[in-house]
Amino acid sequence: MKPTAKFISFEGIDGAGKSTHIAYVAQRLQAALVAHQVQVVCSREPGGTPLGETLREVLLQQKMHLETEALLMFAVRREHIAQLIEPALSRGDWVISDRFTDASFAYQGGGRHLSIEKLSILEQWVHPHLQPDLTLLFDVPLDVARARLDATRQLDKFEREKAEFFFDTRTEYLRRAAEFPQRFRIIDSTQSIEIIRKELDVLIDELLTNALAS
Ligand code: TYD
Repeated sequence: MKPTAKFISFEGIDGAGKSTHIAYVAQRLQAALVAHQVQVVCSREPGGTPLGETLREVLLQQKMHLETEALLMFAVRREHIAQLIEPALSRGDWVISDRFTDASFAYQGGGRHLSIEKLSILEQWVHPHLQPDLTLLFDVPLDVARARLDATRQLDKFEREKAEFFFDTRTEYLRRAAEFPQRFRIIDSTQSIEIIRKELDVLIDELLTNALAS
């Protein structure tokens, strides 16, 4: 029997360390699903399509009106859903997205204070019937996230924001997680990579069991 296709999103403030874990989860899922001729498709937002990747450059580097930023994030998402996410899920493949709509609520809503009502309208417009089956929220206090960022590379527009912005972004992520507890799993990202991997292993096994049973 073919496993039910799953859509998994990864979230967290910049510097939370989610990227490190995406490759691990994707590789473990792919190893388990290859026997069923199922592909694990990894993507990201903003991005995921040629148009989306072009707009990503603009979104991450240029200053713009807050509502323009939110609308462009959802425009990129519309294209991503149409070109990549829905076709993959209809084939029975699995999709892992490095960020999805929760990031718009957290960054444009929490960080930049765009009304949650407006964001909900965009969410309803762009994907009224689609939600991730599982959202992994990598959660860390701001000082840990900042320390990780400063150690790495040239920062983009979001990464250069002040501590207050990330405080509000994290708060909105945690609010969303509390609102949708059946979809979210919060990972304490201050833990070591090895401990987080053990937690992820449990989640992966649950997901696979559930996908094969339904
Ligand atoms: P990020 O996912 O952190 O990629 P990298 O690890 O390569 O830097 O970068 C994407 C940035 O875009 C991140 O700062 C969050 C921001 N973002 C939003 O503000 N709203 C959104 O809806 C999405 C998807 C991302």
